[in-house]
Amino acid sequence: MSEDIVLEVKGLRKVFHIGFFRKRVEAVKNASFSVKRGEIFGLLGPNGAGKTTTIKSILRLIFPSAGEIQIFGRSADDREAAKRVGYMPENPYVYQYLKPLEFLDLCGRLTGIPKVERRDRSEAMVDRVGLRHAVDRPIGKFSKGMMQRIGLAQALLHDPELLILDEPMSGLDPIGRKEVRDVLLEQRARGKTLLFTSHILSDVELLCDRVVIMQRGEITSEGKVHDLLASAGRQVEIRLSGASPALKDSLASRGVVVDNGEGHLTLRADGQKAVDEILRISNAAGARLDALVPERQTLENLFLQDASR
Ligand SMILES: Nc1ncnc2c1ncn2[C@@H]1O[C@H](COP(=O)(O)OP(=O)(O)OP(=O)(O)O)[C@@H](O)[C@H]1O
Ligand SMILES: [Mg+2]
Repeated sequence: MSEDIVLEVKGLRKVFHIGFFRKRVEAVKNASFSVKRGEIFGLLGPNGAGKTTTIKSILRLIFPSAGEIQIFGRSADDREAAKRVGYMPENPYVYQYLKPLEFLDLCGRLTGIPKVERRDRSEAMVDRVGLRHAVDRPIGKFSKGMMQRIGLAQALLHDPELLILDEPMSGLDPIGRKEVRDVLLEQRARGKTLLFTSHILSDVELLCDRVVIMQRGEITSEGKVHDLLASAGRQVEIRLSGASPALKDSLASRGVVVDNGEGHLTLRADGQKAVDEILRISNAAGARLDALVPERQTLENLFLQDASR
């Protein structure tokens, strides 16, 4: 395994058996990907795609049915490798009656941070995740967003090299999301590696160097966010005026046309060839081109495309 690969997942499969009849649920069918040192890697997919199952398998919180996982070139079972990983679960399990600093102190003790250092780091983390105002409150009384923040503080406390975060933005308001994004970018700037899952695609676009998209337990797309968006094809909106009913009918057979009345039409073309063809026909029919607007591809579109496959 190359020095630059921090995490490698090969042929991961996880089958759960549920209920009295041991019904099989194939949560992950076949997932392979690798995360390089210093990058922010996004694991995306709709509800039930298998993201949390993949993460829990990496962390050995559940045991995979098949496949191989290496962290820092070692087996995921290796205690030394595990110490270099920080994990923020989807639903942080926290001790309801502890206050933030008490909880972080406990986490620090579990990961073997010496006492004095533990106190300083816990104090710094409380500030970093914006929980200073709530230090006197038991965690059980926290809101969803505050819970996310304490989960993040806990994951960062022992200054891990690889951070694995399951839905770190969920439950946060826009300001909270920006704050968490900044914390994640700061970690990358410090040379850390991050793997996270998210449904909030705008955050993914802003943060991730590379992503994989998972659907029904399988990886359907993989690559740099920029490349994925470029390869998804470009849609262009065309607006015409002075279009005759005959032209409208002719264009309608090539795709969706919105009739805005009085000869004004709006239509969408997929790729340059389709644009050229529509312009040629419209021109020949004496219609006027009012606007040609390239639509920005978003991860959202790509996601929908993948889902309809
Ligand atoms: N312990 C379990 N026992 C049985 N089935 C499970 C278990 N954990 C997960 N599953 C099933 O595996 C599939 C994948 O679940 P998983 O939690 O990995 O999805 P996810 O991509 O994290 O979804 P979400 O976006 O909702 O968090 C689902 O069909 C789920 O019901
Ligand atoms: Mg999940």
